Amino acid sequence: MRAYGNNYYLCRIITIQMADIILGIESSCDDTSAAVIRDGWLLSNVIASQDVHRAFGGVVPELASRAHEQNIVPVVSEALVRAGVKASDLTAIAFTRGPGLLGSLLVGTSFAKAMGLALDIPIVMVNHLQGHLLADFIRQPDKPVREPAFPYLCLLVSGGNSQIVRVDDPLHFEILGQTIDDAVGEAFDKCSKMLGLGYPGGPVIDRLAKEGDPARFKFTKPHIEGLDYSFSGVKTSLLYFVRDEMAKDPDFLEKNKEDLCASFQKTLIDILLDKLVKAAKQTGIREVTIGGGVSANSGLRARIEAEGRKRGWNTYLPEFKFTTDNAAMIAIAGYYHYLAGERTPLDVAPVSRMSDF
Ligand code: KG4
Repeated sequence: MRAYGNNYYLCRIITIQMADIILGIESSCDDTSAAVIRDGWLLSNVIASQDVHRAFGGVVPELASRAHEQNIVPVVSEALVRAGVKASDLTAIAFTRGPGLLGSLLVGTSFAKAMGLALDIPIVMVNHLQGHLLADFIRQPDKPVREPAFPYLCLLVSGGNSQIVRVDDPLHFEILGQTIDDAVGEAFDKCSKMLGLGYPGGPVIDRLAKEGDPARFKFTKPHIEGLDYSFSGVKTSLLYFVRDEMAKDPDFLEKNKEDLCASFQKTLIDILLDKLVKAAKQTGIREVTIGGGVSANSGLRARIEAEGRKRGWNTYLPEFKFTTDNAAMIAIAGYYHYLAGERTPLDVAPVSRMSDF
């Protein structure tokens, strides 16, 4: 240490000053989350999920806002403790401005504004979808770094979205196709509810599908122009099929639930993959990622990898903990916006829809 003399301390001071420590806050739906990153490397990511919605078979917006209000202070405190940083060490606060449930977004946005004001540091708004798009860029100290090259395609699939997005750089993206009705996660959730399997439906159907035969039943696939999706028809097709079979045999559902889940899941994955392959052909892009809650689906992950091997794509699958809503992805997206010089004024208001962003 001595050999460096004064330069050592100068270097230390410069290093300390140059570290950008970003607190990310996510509260767009039913997960309250806070994360800390230092120069793009993840130090902590805390998520409080809200079990209160389970009994209702879906997220109840009013209950979600109240739960966020209770969770936000302990979640942010825990994220700072786990990261080993003090609030006064923070460089900026990134928060989800939208899209999402307005009451939920208000909690995270107001908290970010108050904390930014109290600490006299900038706040940076983040589009929730952009967080999902950049999930592969969350660097973890104990994990190898593997990031897609720009431009890449992201299949963004969640309870609120089903989109194919071309990502040109961390700050610019274009939606090439999207659902014209239900999101694919909604199809999982609604059908699970219909089959009496519980909420959220995706993980239950995923688990049961592993025991079933995906070729046993066939459900209607939509014929939609271009790169857009539709999932309401396949949901109705399952509903009518089960209703008709139950009329003949009241135990049909119980006897066939694994095959029903496997066949339904395969239909959804076929629909997703058909358009993704089309998008890759049209754009000539072979870097392919997935994001959003449904990207946790084991069947979808296996198919993307298989399709990638077949078509010479480089595929990137985010870790499970970064597929559903989390603040790490908001922090990393906010970090890029921060580096680009973006600062959000304190009179910012959350927005529920993508088109209002
Ligand atoms: O991204 P996310 O946490 O929340 C938003 O919608 O913004 O996604 C939640 C969705 C739910 O519809 C849930 O059923 C679905 O992700 N999901 C899954 C799986 N895990 C979660 N869908 C299929 N398979 C899974 N393993």
